Amino acid sequence: MKTILLNPGPVTLSERVRSALLGPDLCHREVEFATLQDGLRRKLMAVYDLPADAWGATLLTGSGTAAVEAMITSLVPRDARVLVAENGVYGERMSRIAETYGIATTRIRAPWGERLDLEAIATALRATPHSHVAVVHHETTTGRLNDLAALASVCKETGARLLLDGVSSFGAEDIDFEAWGIDACAATANKCLHGVPGTAFVMLRRAALAAAAVSRSVYFDLRDYLAKQDGQGTPFTQSVQTFYALDAALDEFFAAGGQPARQQLFQSRMATVRATLARLNVRALLATDETSCALHAFELPEGRDYPTLHDALKARGFIIYAGQGALSERVFRISAMGDISADDMARLCRALEEVLAT
Ligand SMILES: Cc1ncc(COP(=O)(O)O)c(C=O)c1O
Repeated sequence: MKTILLNPGPVTLSERVRSALLGPDLCHREVEFATLQDGLRRKLMAVYDLPADAWGATLLTGSGTAAVEAMITSLVPRDARVLVAENGVYGERMSRIAETYGIATTRIRAPWGERLDLEAIATALRATPHSHVAVVHHETTTGRLNDLAALASVCKETGARLLLDGVSSFGAEDIDFEAWGIDACAATANKCLHGVPGTAFVMLRRAALAAAAVSRSVYFDLRDYLAKQDGQGTPFTQSVQTFYALDAALDEFFAAGGQPARQQLFQSRMATVRATLARLNVRALLATDETSCALHAFELPEGRDYPTLHDALKARGFIIYAGQGALSERVFRISAMGDISADDMARLCRALEEVLAT
């Protein structure tokens, strides 16, 4: 029986992406690698139609956190301050990264699952100059899709620019790079784009990176990556096989209709799961219009514990995902990411009914 991953990455792979991992042995200093890397960078720019004169894609070998760490440490100028808008694990992690590097940081925390505290953010921005506001787009902790249009209008008043953790939204959610004042967006291959773990990337506004003029890290210095990758090189050894896989995943992504199609696909999968669970009296944590298309959190029904639910679904071929921290006793999560067929979805609904109807 095939196991379907309903955790938010790594995802269930298509056969084409899996086979791509077996591509030819390749040295990262050969012209074939440069061609592969150039193609990947162009395809990533095409996901949101970013113009090459103003933007650049930088590819790193690492997980999503590597891309977020590279973004924060490379974009916040040395004498500047960043405000981190937190409402979950990944917002809090952005603060931890900034503080670890000694970057002046203002943390504005909202409870997990709640909206960002825009009033407190506006007050802090007016009181002290901040070059950037760092925020998670889809806070995977709860499935909340943060309202970046509203945040952007608060930021505009003081000229603060956005650093976006798009790790679990890039490729599926709408991202308005210009209207939202985004300077950089960090993301990864193995979530909404359906690649494999190992490749992460940062979409960079070239002028913002140049203006920051800062290097706080050797491995995460995006100025080095951008300059070398623009010149068809790479500062360090890249994970060649995961590049092959991302390339195949992006070809499938565009053939299927790109970001709007991926968003619709995820929305329809989540609507099916929500409707099935609603019939079983399982409540969603957040309303659909506040939740990302890629993952929803659900309240554990009275008298059910997560490990038992997980194991019963695993025995039927589905891996669900636990809540984090204080939510671990209260919620479970289901993601729509990955190569999941209509048959798999029908089987999932039957499995949920079998396990939860009694
Ligand atoms: C929004 C967000 N940011 C960052 C990360 C960290 O990614 P990784 O575990 O690949 O380092 C995750 C992982 O799920 C995430 O969902």
